[in-house]
Amino acid sequence: MSNLLIHSMNEFRDLILATLDIAVVTDVVEIGTEYGGMSTVLSAWLKPRNGRLRCIDPSAKPAFLEWVATESDVQHLACPSLEAMPHLSAADAWLIDGDHNWYTVFHELEGIFAKTWAAGKHPLIFLHDVCWPCARRDMYYAPESIPQEFRKPFTFNAGAVLDNAVTVPGRGFRGGNDFAYADTEGGPRNGVLTAVEDSLISQTAAGHKLAWCRVPAVFGLGIIFDTAAPWSKAVVAHLLPWHENKLIATLEQNRLANFLTVVNMEDSIPMCSVPVFDGTYFSEVEQEALWGKFYTGAPQRQR
Ligand SMILES: C[S@@+](CC[C@H](N)C(=O)[O-])C[C@H]1O[C@@H](n2cnc3c(N)ncnc32)[C@H](O)[C@@H]1O
Repeated sequence: MSNLLIHSMNEFRDLILATLDIAVVTDVVEIGTEYGGMSTVLSAWLKPRNGRLRCIDPSAKPAFLEWVATESDVQHLACPSLEAMPHLSAADAWLIDGDHNWYTVFHELEGIFAKTWAAGKHPLIFLHDVCWPCARRDMYYAPESIPQEFRKPFTFNAGAVLDNAVTVPGRGFRGGNDFAYADTEGGPRNGVLTAVEDSLISQTAAGHKLAWCRVPAVFGLGIIFDTAAPWSKAVVAHLLPWHENKLIATLEQNRLANFLTVVNMEDSIPMCSVPVFDGTYFSEVEQEALWGKFYTGAPQRQR
């Protein structure tokens, strides 16, 4: 199923790397690495530029851990972003793709802005998940780590659907054991895009002039950058064709609708509760014995 749904920032690699090139970036922080889909791309791009990459992820996948162990110029901080943030120096560019909720993203952004201004640098920040389902809906990898006053009522087993702000039990896009969604989409302090807007409001009120671009594909890529940067006009020219591009938005809606249709079909099929019972690992006799003992909800065999 996961192969049906591309979800890595890696899908935006050409667009991101070209922007890094224009902004003459050599120092990058990536929040949320998972399998290292984007980390490996960033590292390969930074190497010939004598750059450095710092990656933050408290639960990175083994594929990333094995790779990073062989990379002397990549540093891995195995803790949540908001714990790592006070120990980090400013970078040229930041990628935010960790815990997709208002509390985490708002404070990541505010931390990044504070460091960047203090170092006399120009912010350049890429954020994933600024479109559906997390634009206006919190997602929590570890709900217990979010202070209660910022945490929305949440669910692990009800899913997000396109035509309803409320999650649907046993249906839709959902995380199972991996992550939870806020029960309801919308309202204040809910979702990644809302966190971006609130941070941009606070930065603008402090006198900073920031530009915002959103590419409405693969759950949405947002880019924030300083209009006072010497490279900002070139970045605008590079990003403008992608910003809120209607054709891309239509393709994304179509992709999500197709994916959710498949999820719905899968959810409608009665599931066997025996793990890995796909016939591969058991003899026919064993399979029959398991069917006799363990099926739940599946129709009785007719033969
Ligand atoms: C969607 S995946 C990242 C995908 C990756 N950026 C890519 O483009 O291939 C989200 C990752 O964020 C990590 N994560 C969750 N909470 C985090 C936090 N508070 N700080 C940093 N990373 C976090 C998860 O462990 C997970 O590996």
